[in-house]
Amino acid sequence: MAGKVFADDILQGKVAFVTGGGTGITGGVARAFAAHGAKLAIVSRKEENLIPQKQYIEENGGECLAIAADVRFYDGIENAIKQAADKFGKIDIVVNGAAGNFLCAADQLSANGFGTVVDIDTKGTFNVCRAAFETLKESKGQILNISATLHYLATPMQIHVSAAKAGVDAITRNLSVEWGLHGIRVNGIAPGPIEDTEGMKRLLMPELKEKTMRKIPAGRFGRIEDVENAALFLVSDAASYINGVTLVVDGGSWLLGTSLT
Ligand code: HXC
Repeated sequence: MAGKVFADDILQGKVAFVTGGGTGITGGVARAFAAHGAKLAIVSRKEENLIPQKQYIEENGGECLAIAADVRFYDGIENAIKQAADKFGKIDIVVNGAAGNFLCAADQLSANGFGTVVDIDTKGTFNVCRAAFETLKESKGQILNISATLHYLATPMQIHVSAAKAGVDAITRNLSVEWGLHGIRVNGIAPGPIEDTEGMKRLLMPELKEKTMRKIPAGRFGRIEDVENAALFLVSDAASYINGVTLVVDGGSWLLGTSLT
């Protein structure tokens, strides 16, 4: 949970719809939004990833709707958006955090393996944005897409995720232009190496942890809280003129080409 850098009520009265909102980085973002006044709808493929998060948010005085749905399938996502908008009356903030990842060399990766990650990350992001358009247009809401820095240079064993996240960044830019006209802001966050996340467990070989840390300009791995604070800023009124940006939260890592693999 984010420390009290921001006023407790900056998201009072807002409704946030967060995919991948049960666990990991976007799990933290969902909790931080709730702690700053937002009502939450969280979405994940697996119900068991949602229940503890819903309980946590409710025990801390928030409201949380948990919806099991797969971002790859439009009908289920359209239904999830409708459920959230029906329950809370509107949606102000959509966070696309659902993502797939594994390490695999390009010459070992199957077409379906590549396609699966692109379907979750890129098509999933589009599906959620598209399904939320009408309700966001009404609320003059906003979208926050969780990306990565893997594709800024080239990251071995990550061709599928790099391609998928490059697509996510393109979606952020395109929609910021097309939907900015409707009063919808569309931004992204590109987290670098954030400790205690599923992505890091999958990507960083334990024997490389120390060596990798020494190459991070900020001198430490990122914390989920670092991304929470960036997200709170971007969705708050303090960022009302920021549109079409993907904010890198990586302690300066990618500039040095700090690779996790
Ligand atoms: C090679 C693999 C594989 C692996 C799956 N596949 N895992 N190929 N190595 N380790 C291939 C399968 O062989 C199959 O292709 C295809 O992918 C689909 O696999 P399924 O298991 O049927 O798919 P599904 O269950 O729908 O999803 C699998 C998954 C998902 C994408 C791996 O379980 C997943 O990603 N879970 C992790 C969630 C996660 O870590 N989220 C955080 C992301 S972090 P074939 O050809 O055999 O049919 C992130 C940040 C990155 O994105 C940046 C960090 C710095």
